[in-house]
Amino acid sequence: MKFKDKVVIITGATSGIGEACAMAFGKEGAKVVITGRKQVKIDNSLHRLQQEGIEAMGVLADAASETDNEKIALETIEKYGKIDVLINNAGISMRALFEDLDLDVFKKVMDTNFYGAVYATKYCLPEILKNTGSIVAVSSINGYRGTPARTAYTASKYAMNGFFEALRTEVMKRGVHVLVASPGFTASNIRNNALTADGQSQGESPREEDKMMSAEEVAAEILKATIKRKRDLVLTKQGKLAVFLNKWMPGTMDTLVYNTMAKEKDSPFK
Ligand SMILES: NC(=O)c1ccc[n+]([C@@H]2O[C@H](COP(=O)([O-])OP(=O)(O)OC[C@H]3O[C@@H](n4cnc5c(N)ncnc54)[C@H](OP(=O)(O)O)[C@@H]3O)[C@@H](O)[C@H]2O)c1
Repeated sequence: MKFKDKVVIITGATSGIGEACAMAFGKEGAKVVITGRKQVKIDNSLHRLQQEGIEAMGVLADAASETDNEKIALETIEKYGKIDVLINNAGISMRALFEDLDLDVFKKVMDTNFYGAVYATKYCLPEILKNTGSIVAVSSINGYRGTPARTAYTASKYAMNGFFEALRTEVMKRGVHVLVASPGFTASNIRNNALTADGQSQGESPREEDKMMSAEEVAAEILKATIKRKRDLVLTKQGKLAVFLNKWMPGTMDTLVYNTMAKEKDSPFK
């Protein structure tokens, strides 16, 4: 019970990696606070957590809203008296060529993925400093390597990586742990919900989800890395290779990534 009586907030925990993290940390004794944009999805996740004997609370909150993020911190302190760990997980993706992309869609992705993490961190940091706790950023391999037709998503993850690297260094002498976790392709709803050029949900995944890492496997790795207070976590063999090759052979990677992504179902480029 590595997180007995610790209070762990997980943003966007009504499905996928977020819900799996709530389960994983909860099974280690944490009191978990989950957030999402739909009350019914929060209630369903709370039910699944409580069935496992996990103490959990839900907060209806849009990651893109500063006031909602303040509310998450305030309601957590009101109910549990403290915050030990914040997992910045809420995120959405997009898929369209930049030339076709409505800039409101670009902004929505940045507001959710990047500013959502900034706001939540801002309001939870005083408590995490007090408790020398952990801040986890659920980034992506796209935080190291861009993907065509995912410009806004890539930008949001690079921004997260830069923000958390700077913050980690800022608080390094104050006992706070900052982990940037970068999953590779993981089976979840993210590709179904990815936004198209005009902001509609894509409604299907262009990839074979059953060949991917599961959200539970990713959550187990995030749990381990948080316990060990690791700096970075890069997942999947393909993800590790992409990060390595992009550092040393970025030009070759441009061609490789183009050719690979062009083969995706309904790719907007050939
Ligand atoms: N799956 C992958 O292949 C993959 C790879 C690398 C990184 N990631 C990252 O992992 C994180 C989780 O994604 P996932 O794959 O688990 O996707 P998912 O199954 O679609 O889960 C996304 C979660 O975020 C929540 N969310 C979305 N927009 C939100 C908003 N504005 N405010 C609050 N909550 C919001 C969703 O809840 P509601 O819809 O109920 O609001 C849901 O609980 C994301 O940051 C994603 O970028 C995923």
